Amino acid sequence: MDQYAVFGNPIKHSKSPFIHTLFANQTQQQMSYGIVEAPIDGFTKAVQAFFNSDAKGCNITAPFKEEAFQFAQSLTDRARLAGAVNTLKKTDDGLIIGDNTDGAGLVLDLKNNHVNLTDARILLLGAGGAARGVCSSLLAEKPAQLTIANRTFEKAETLVSIFKELGNINASEFNNLSGPFDLIINSTSAGLHGSLPNISTSLITPETAIYDMTYNAQVTAFNAWAKENGARLTIDGLGMLVGQAAESFAIWRGVKPGAKQVLTELRHNLAG
Ligand code: ATR
Repeated sequence: MDQYAVFGNPIKHSKSPFIHTLFANQTQQQMSYGIVEAPIDGFTKAVQAFFNSDAKGCNITAPFKEEAFQFAQSLTDRARLAGAVNTLKKTDDGLIIGDNTDGAGLVLDLKNNHVNLTDARILLLGAGGAARGVCSSLLAEKPAQLTIANRTFEKAETLVSIFKELGNINASEFNNLSGPFDLIINSTSAGLHGSLPNISTSLITPETAIYDMTYNAQVTAFNAWAKENGARLTIDGLGMLVGQAAESFAIWRGVKPGAKQVLTELRHNLAG
């Protein structure tokens, strides 16, 4: 049976085996999907051993996405621009290709939620790895404008310099933003530290959709704040997790699974 896995550390609570097992059932693919907790200083050795054992592909999550980028023998354009790899695939010739499906997963989930991206004014909060991973996919949808705002302004400028050939992208300070925005995406890790990105509530209008890339059993702090301040729609990152998995699965198996049923089951389990 074809073997796949997700690599990370820590990785015990990963939802990826559950998601890919449901995808495999849904599309009648014969495959197994496990987890590998590589030592913090031992990713390359572990992933090499995995592929030596004839495995077909894997997902990579924190903290190994940059090392996976180095490990890949060939990269897709979007992975090269992201500077990180979340999907490795071994071809029939034995070549290991690195891809990044995070941005495609985000766009898929936004579309599933009927959020229009073409000609939209989009604000992306944060300029770390999570933000960099989604810029090329957002720009591919041809928004009117993609503004990157970050606490550390220089990092927003760096992202602009990486992606400026792909569309209308600009950098801003948090306190210097002028809306309105059709969509505000939170990619910061502020919520993990119990805080919020420090932006003005006036940026949220009754037309603004909000996407928080994180998720919890409860509403995320950012989405609760946005809802209180009048956002029309708030979405959390659980659908992006399923979306990036669906894109990886399609790369490996050549068939695109549906996200909806899996997302419903995950949401149910999270609440339970
Ligand atoms: P990730 O891979 O999740 O993006 P990262 O690369 O460490 O992680 O980036 C974290 C992002 O969250 C950065 O944009 C960071 O802002 P700085 O570049 O100024 O550090 C942002 N961030 C973290 N805590 C934040 C907070 N309390 N308020 C606003 N932004 C925050």
